[in-house]
Parts: sequence; C-alpha cells; structure tokens
Amino acid sequence: MYLIGTIDPQDLVSGSVPSDSIEDPFLHDPPRDPRLYQHTSRPYNAETPGSHLTSFITPNHIFYVRNHMWVPSPPLDAHLTVELPDGEEVTFSMEDLKTKFPQHTITSTLQCSGNRRSHMTTACTHTSGLQWKVGAIGTATWTGPFLRDVLAHTGFPVSQPPPDAKHVQFLGHEAYGASIPINKALSSSGDVILAHTMNSSPIPPDHGYPLRVVVPGHVAARSVKWLSKITISDEESTSQWQRRDYKSFGPNERGLEDWSRAKSIQEMPVNSAVTSITPRDAGGFVVKGWAYSGGGREIVRVDVSTNDGRTWDQANLIDREPASSLNPTSPEQKADGCPHSAQGQGSKHWAWKQWTYTIPSFSISDAKNDSQNKETGSEGKAKMVLVVKATDEGYNTQPERFEPIYNVRGNLAVAWHRVPLSVEKLEKREKTRSS
Ligand code: MTE
Repeated sequence: MYLIGTIDPQDLVSGSVPSDSIEDPFLHDPPRDPRLYQHTSRPYNAETPGSHLTSFITPNHIFYVRNHMWVPSPPLDAHLTVELPDGEEVTFSMEDLKTKFPQHTITSTLQCSGNRRSHMTTACTHTSGLQWKVGAIGTATWTGPFLRDVLAHTGFPVSQPPPDAKHVQFLGHEAYGASIPINKALSSSGDVILAHTMNSSPIPPDHGYPLRVVVPGHVAARSVKWLSKITISDEESTSQWQRRDYKSFGPNERGLEDWSRAKSIQEMPVNSAVTSITPRDAGGFVVKGWAYSGGGREIVRVDVSTNDGRTWDQANLIDREPASSLNPTSPEQKADGCPHSAQGQGSKHWAWKQWTYTIPSFSISDAKNDSQNKETGSEGKAKMVLVVKATDEGYNTQPERFEPIYNVRGNLAVAWHRVPLSVEKLEKREKTRSS
C-alpha cells in the first residue's frame, strides 16, 4: 500500500470520496483474449500460455501484456515530440512518421525481465513482482521508421553526438517512462524502430497504439508503449521504472538493495524454456520450447537432459518457418500474402529460436529403472527430470541453479529450466494416446 496524498475534507460527500465523479482510468482498456493467462486485471497483466508459444511469430491477440497502469485513451491528433539537448522541441505527426521516412520491418522478440520469475521463487524463496511462468515473451514484426533517422531529421548530429548526449528517454501517454544508452539509439545496427505496425496490423491498444518504440535485444521494459515524447539527455529517465525497478542485485542484498548503484537492465541474458510436452503417435513425447538471448546474440545450441543434467542431448533448432508452411488464412499470414516469418531479420539476431526434442519411449522405461530417479521421486515413484539450457553465439550459457542468481526482485530468472515429470503419468498418457 502506498500513500499518494490526502483528500481535503471539503471534497468528501458524507465522509467518502464521491467515486462516481471520478472517471474510471481503465475505461479504454480493450477486450482481451480469454486464453491469455491473467495475473492481474487492473492494470492488466497476462502471459501467453505455453501451448500458444509454439509459432515463430506470436499473433497479436495472444501476445503477452505487461501494463503498469491503464491503456490511455486513443489520441485524436497523435504526435511525437522530440526534445533535443538544447531544449528545442521538434514535433512529428503520425503521418510524418509514416511518410517522411523509409519504413523498416524488424522481427524482434520482447521479453519481460521477470519472465520465469515463478521458477526462481519456487527454487529459492519469495521474490516481489508478478509470478510469470514461461510466457512473458513473444516475437512480432514491427514496422516504422528507424529512431536514428527521425533524430537525424531534427538536425541532431547522429554520427557525432555531443558528449553530454548520453541517453535517449521515452515517455508514454499514461506517464510510464524509460531510457536507453544513446549508442544503442544511434547505432546503424541497433535497429531501434518507432513502430506503428505489429505483425502487419496497426499496433493493438494493449501494445501501444498508435506508436511504440521497439528496442530489439533489450529488456522489453525499454520498449515504451503509447509513445508521446523522446528526450535526448545527459541522464537516464528519472522514472521509477528506470531508477527503482528493472534492476538486479546480488543474492546477499535482501532488504539492503542499493538502487542508485545497481545498473539498469538493458540487454537480456540467455534464457530458454520448455513450453509444451505432447505424446507422439509413434510413441514417446515431443517437447517444444523457446531460447533467446539479448543484444542480438544468436542462439547456437539448446541442450536437453532427461535425467536432471547427468547426460545431455541436443534439441533440434527450428529455423524460421518457410513461407509455404504457413496457412494463408492463419493470423501469421496476412491478406497481403506476406508471411511475417519471411520479413526483416534486421542487423542482428533479435528474435528467439524455437526448438523441438523427442523423448523416445525407451527413455521413459530407462527412467523407470534408474535407481537415481527413484531416490528423487516421491514415495519411491520414478521421476524423469527434463532439463533445458541454451547457449548463444558468445558462448554464454545459463547457470545451473537459481540460488547464485537469486535477487529479491526476481529479475533475470535464467537458470536451467527443470521440469520434473512423473514416469507413471507419462506412461499413462502414452497408453491413452495409443489405445
Ligand atoms: N510502456 C508503457 N507506456 N507502459 C507500460 O506499462 N510496460 C513495459 C513496456 N512498455 C509498459 C511499457 C514492460 S515492463 C514490458 S515487459 C513491455 O512494455 C510489455 O510489452 P507488451 O505489453 O506489448 O507485451
């Protein structure tokens, strides 16, 4: 609970706040797909269920939503203001942004820094924040002008910025704010985009209509929705989401977090997760999942173990779905016939990789006869502990356990994803499938 102010007694009616005279700030929140797994309703926060994370492009209606406040009312005359270091302001209409600049499409994954937080909580102890499972992540194509081009148009020297221009701050219509280092904004391989289009449709209200900045490779908290203002500054955004949130701490800093010293999270570390396990007609199971690393670092390998990490095998990395494999009437492909998966990789690997792995029937029998599995199972019943970890092109890989990366905020929960499975239940599922 927070004290946000006191009400003058003169404004009370019969001792209470006249609530019917206050406009509901959530009035403009749109209807949502009931299949999204809802964590909170006001503000609305919901993740994509694992079963819907299996396509390379996450359709708009099932893309996770992370709102700190309400969805602002759609502006009648939307425009973007850019404030330069000397205080001068330059304004662009939506029309300007769509017509005065080359339009680019970049395919980028967005991931919340708290994705998989619930796994850290289960492995360690309490973490504060929404208890996301594996679905605070999604991949979309984003279309609009590059931020670099728009800044260049204002006369700002993008090739040689002055030394006091260190950060680019973004402000949303409902007052959310965040910033990124200027190098990312100005880099010709940064691909920071002022997006008006998501997966070939106008950005939906929950995802920032009419304009959001998309910062590929960085934590999604910096991709500010309902973008109204950009400020080039010598300091980071002063918002609480830049200064007091979206930071990480040492496992020892419990209740002693020094927010001013901790670095803001920008590029995301390597992470992966299992999203579905389904029986195969030929016996055994198909496991599917995602793997993603920030900074445009490509995922080069996904390792899978079915015995809690004692031995390993490799998952099959799926390259982008070929155009022909997409159903033209599916939400992944639009009437213009242009499948999203074929569009705009951009300068680096901004998108996740999806993977599959087959657990053959004999592995399930092996797990049953493995005495080490029995020891870890409840009441002597066998358990198969499925584990996944990914490695990116910098050979960064995920830590084995959560304890050494525990932080009170539960941010960057990237330890191996362990999924304990009951061998008995797997066998039953297999039998039901074959009968
Ligand atoms: N931008 C605004 N204006 N308001 C917000 O609450 N949430 C941020 C970011 N941009 C937020 C925002 C966070 S924390 C995340 S994870 C992403 O938006 C979520 O984007 P999505 O809802 O489109 O998935």
